[in-house]
Amino acid sequence: MISQIYRVLFLLSSLIYTVETGEDEVTQLAQWTVVKEAGNASMECSRTTTSGTVHWYRQYPNQPPQYLVMAKREADQHERISASVSTDYKHTVLSVRDARLYDTAIYLCANGDTVV
Ligand SMILES: *[C@@H]1O[C@H](CO)[C@@H](O)[C@H](O)[C@H]1NC(C)=O
Repeated sequence: MISQIYRVLFLLSSLIYTVETGEDEVTQLAQWTVVKEAGNASMECSRTTTSGTVHWYRQYPNQPPQYLVMAKREADQHERISASVSTDYKHTVLSVRDARLYDTAIYLCANGDTVV
């Protein structure tokens, strides 16, 4: 019998509010996600505005958030970590494929006014 040992990774998503206007709210839908190593995970954020772009950040304990990816209408399927935007532009989903141990982190989504 071969038994496989999986490490369980925790991906936490949190929310931050846009600093530009102070009005447009960004909300995370799942507070935490558990994924096996090499598994796939996704996290969703919704926002009250349809303008601007959504950016995802990753934060490790005791460190500032690191920029991860910008959400796009057509998410790049070739990337291990990508973010898509729904057709109504209100929801964004961050997808993590083939999760690694270092993916264990807090994930933040933010609305930005700058289009890059
Ligand atoms: C993760 O997603 C990829 C591509 O969508 C798929 O090929 C793979 O089988 C999935 N892995 C698991 C563990 O579900």
